[in-house]
Amino acid sequence: MKRIFLAIAFAAVSTAASAADVGAGRYQSVLGDCEGCHGKNLAGGVELMTPFGKLVAPNITQDKDTGIGNYTAEDFRRAMKEGIAPGGKRLYPAMPYPAYARMSDADIAALWAYFRTIKPVRHVVDVNQLRFPFNLRFMMRGWNMLFFRPAPYVPDASKSAAWNRGAYIATGPAHCGTCHTSKSFFGADTGLALSGALLQGWFAPDLTGDRDAGLGGWSARDVVEYLKTGRNGHSIASGPMAEVVEHSTANMKGADLQAVAVYLKDLPPSAGNGGGASGVEAQMKSGAGIYRMNCAACHSFNGRGDSVLFPPLAGNALVRQAGAQTLVRVVLAGSKAVATPAAPTGPGMPSFAWKLNDEQVANVLTYIRNNWGNRAPAVSADEVAKIRARHGS
Ligand code: HEC
Ligand code: HEC
Ligand code: HEC
Repeated sequence: MKRIFLAIAFAAVSTAASAADVGAGRYQSVLGDCEGCHGKNLAGGVELMTPFGKLVAPNITQDKDTGIGNYTAEDFRRAMKEGIAPGGKRLYPAMPYPAYARMSDADIAALWAYFRTIKPVRHVVDVNQLRFPFNLRFMMRGWNMLFFRPAPYVPDASKSAAWNRGAYIATGPAHCGTCHTSKSFFGADTGLALSGALLQGWFAPDLTGDRDAGLGGWSARDVVEYLKTGRNGHSIASGPMAEVVEHSTANMKGADLQAVAVYLKDLPPSAGNGGGASGVEAQMKSGAGIYRMNCAACHSFNGRGDSVLFPPLAGNALVRQAGAQTLVRVVLAGSKAVATPAAPTGPGMPSFAWKLNDEQVANVLTYIRNNWGNRAPAVSADEVAKIRARHGS
């Protein structure tokens, strides 16, 4: 009896040592948002639409046949940092390894300690549904040679510890640039980091210090509040960003959110990607009428909204982005703010697809983009029609 007890006590001590790693690894998976793509139980997840067709995030549980149960720690490190799975399989960068490549080996090792504890789930996923010729994996070898320079994060000694931690999180595990940095036709980063990019039907706004389009008007506290709760006095996260908040940033430690804010607030302003509309008086007039009838009740006549429930449209960076795709989607499809533990009930933006035609949507958006001090390009009925057709609403 006593011997068994001792053996158990001994086992408890040795697993307690690795439990710290497992806990640290679980937190790395929050930073990296693995569940956001691979699904809640990590057994395979969302369909990722790319310009080249569809990829489905695979099963990464410990199942030996359908998951990654046969991986070694080194296999895992290579997949995460070099984009090469066992057998030399080149991964597509829809798996954000170009960002994960910046993670430290210690963080990857902790992540693996956590993954070893993931319950195996048998689930076959048809990952590669890309169009020919993009479905040919060996093409990725060329892409990797041309565009992929794996490089660990190198701290900048001239900056504070918080800045460096924030830069590490944003450009490494949390891969903010995967959405907020524009990509070339080949999916490689182009343009200034985090200065805004088009996704499939959404526009991920400029996060630099630009006053019009970026976060120039936000304080570090505003950034933390947005990432923690999905909303602040300037904006409310919807679409892909609502998912990022829900699975990842809402669960980040306060000090890490603060660090990300320090880093973002130090990004020099992009040259601005907006530009005012001109020659659109008729659109503005019609838009003003549509706004009074349909929008002012919630967003108020002066566009100031109401601090937290209804976002202000005046001075709203999303409203002033060069790309209006996200705005068109929000007005057509409506949007439900994410509910987070810190702010449990999200208010909703109704859908107007049934009520406003393409021209009306274009006019009201042109109006809110060029009123109350906002300045951004006009939106055309054609643009609205394309987005409506693509998303079937
Ligand atoms: C933006 C979506 C996305 C996120 C976030 C993401 N993955 Fe992936 N992952 C994918 C896709 C898509 C693939 C399939 C790529 C392929 O087969 O070419 C993949 C493949 C993998 C593979 C290779 C599996 C195999 O085929 O052997 C591993 C391992 C993996 N992911 C681990 C992770 C971990 C760990 C995280 C969190 C730190 C993570 N992924 C976050 C989309 C994502
Ligand atoms: C999967 C794509 C994706 C990822 C990854 C992502 N974002 Fe976003 N983000 C978006 C989109 C799309 C929007 C616009 C939607 C909205 O505002 O409702 C957005 C909006 C934002 C906004 C609000 C900007 C404004 O002017 O309203 C901030 C701040 C932000 N993201 C920060 C981040 C940070 C920091 C990270 C990394 C931790 C990150 N995002 C990762 C897609 C993404
Ligand atoms: C019933 C109240 C209500 C009405 C009416 C309404 N909205 Fe909204 N709107 C909201 C709420 C709540 C949100 C934030 C919800 C979210 O993003 O999830 C929002 C979000 C938005 C956003 C995104 C702002 C951001 O920073 O994310 C835009 C743009 C917008 N509304 C424009 C309009 C326009 C244009 C109209 C009229 C055609 C309109 N709204 C009518 C409640 C309303």
